[in-house]
Amino acid sequence: MSETFHLAVVGATGAVGQEILRILEKRHFPVKTMRCFASSRSQGRLVTFQGQSIPVEILAPNSFKGVDIAIFSAGRKVALEYAPLAQKEGTIVVDNSSAFRKDPHIPLIIPEINAHAIKKHEGIIASPNCTTAIMLMALHPLHRHFGIKRIVAATYQAASGAGAQAMHELTLETKALLEDKSFDRSVMPHPYAFNLFLHNSPLLENGYLEEELKMLYETRKILEDETIRLTATCVRVPILRAHSIALNVEFHAPACKEQAYALLRQAQGITILENRKENYFPMPIDATGQDHVLCGRIREDLSQPNTLELWVVGDQLLKGAALNAVQIAELLIKKHDESSTAQH
Ligand SMILES: NC(=O)c1ccc[n+]([C@@H]2O[C@H](COP(=O)([O-])OP(=O)(O)OC[C@H]3O[C@@H](n4cnc5c(N)ncnc54)[C@H](OP(=O)(O)O)[C@@H]3O)[C@@H](O)[C@H]2O)c1
Repeated sequence: MSETFHLAVVGATGAVGQEILRILEKRHFPVKTMRCFASSRSQGRLVTFQGQSIPVEILAPNSFKGVDIAIFSAGRKVALEYAPLAQKEGTIVVDNSSAFRKDPHIPLIIPEINAHAIKKHEGIIASPNCTTAIMLMALHPLHRHFGIKRIVAATYQAASGAGAQAMHELTLETKALLEDKSFDRSVMPHPYAFNLFLHNSPLLENGYLEEELKMLYETRKILEDETIRLTATCVRVPILRAHSIALNVEFHAPACKEQAYALLRQAQGITILENRKENYFPMPIDATGQDHVLCGRIREDLSQPNTLELWVVGDQLLKGAALNAVQIAELLIKKHDESSTAQH
């Protein structure tokens, strides 16, 4: 492939944005030009891409002229305002926020699972919620084989899921506590160091947190199965990076652990990591910086048939956000190459 593309990263100074730049470089994405956008808070900042210092530009309505692909990682509000403006300029947007995920006309893609959905895009493509992406990497091979009936999930989510400032705050708060100093929080709602609390997303009337329902709606959309049932409890734990998920999954067909291990060993983007003799199963420090989602401790649930227990850990800044978004952009250029070849 010789063609190169004009790219933009919106939210380039953030936790996900910084990873996007690193991954584009690592995967040799064919970039002709790179523009990096953030808010006015980042006026005068430089970010690094391919060894070059790139000045951060303040996002404005006319920012997308001449941009082929823009990867957005600047939250829902920014996406709702600016993605349609980019789309009007002919830019294809890959968005990491929740702004468009539930829209039936906008594909929500995990490339290993539903790459085919890219065919239907009209200029905006959504990348899923981080916890959902990590969970489905482990579940989709099992769904294809046994058919998922119901998922019960408990999550242990890291600070980085709430952005760069949350990571910084956890570090400062931990240090302050160890030095017996007082600490004023500005990002997280509750004491975080040496503590945990239910996920800091809005609590809905039915008692669920928004994060928990994202897991349900996005699972159904990505697996293209509206019959799947899911209930989740999402928790923030004082870990800097990588989410862990305990899953109890009931299947339609008889499911055994041997087959589940075999399916996951063959699956793309998943690594089985365990040493039962040492009681060693995936930990956030194992998953940090890794593209693969880690899985281990697959058990048959003793309490009911056709049900497996799994422990899944993944770097949510990577497969849960930046890597997945870059993989979607790679699908776009593959599609572009295929249609160019067909025309010649
Ligand atoms: N963190 C994760 O694990 C994860 C996973 C999946 C999806 N996501 C989604 O990815 C997005 C970014 O998350 P993050 O964790 O990277 O957050 P973050 O570290 O707080 O970064 C947010 C980025 O958005 C920029 N931004 C904020 N307001 C803006 C505005 N009005 N105009 C232009 N840029 C603006 C920020 O720029 P300044 O530096 O100038 O403030 C920064 O670059 C969110 O939508 C989040 O839901 C995150």
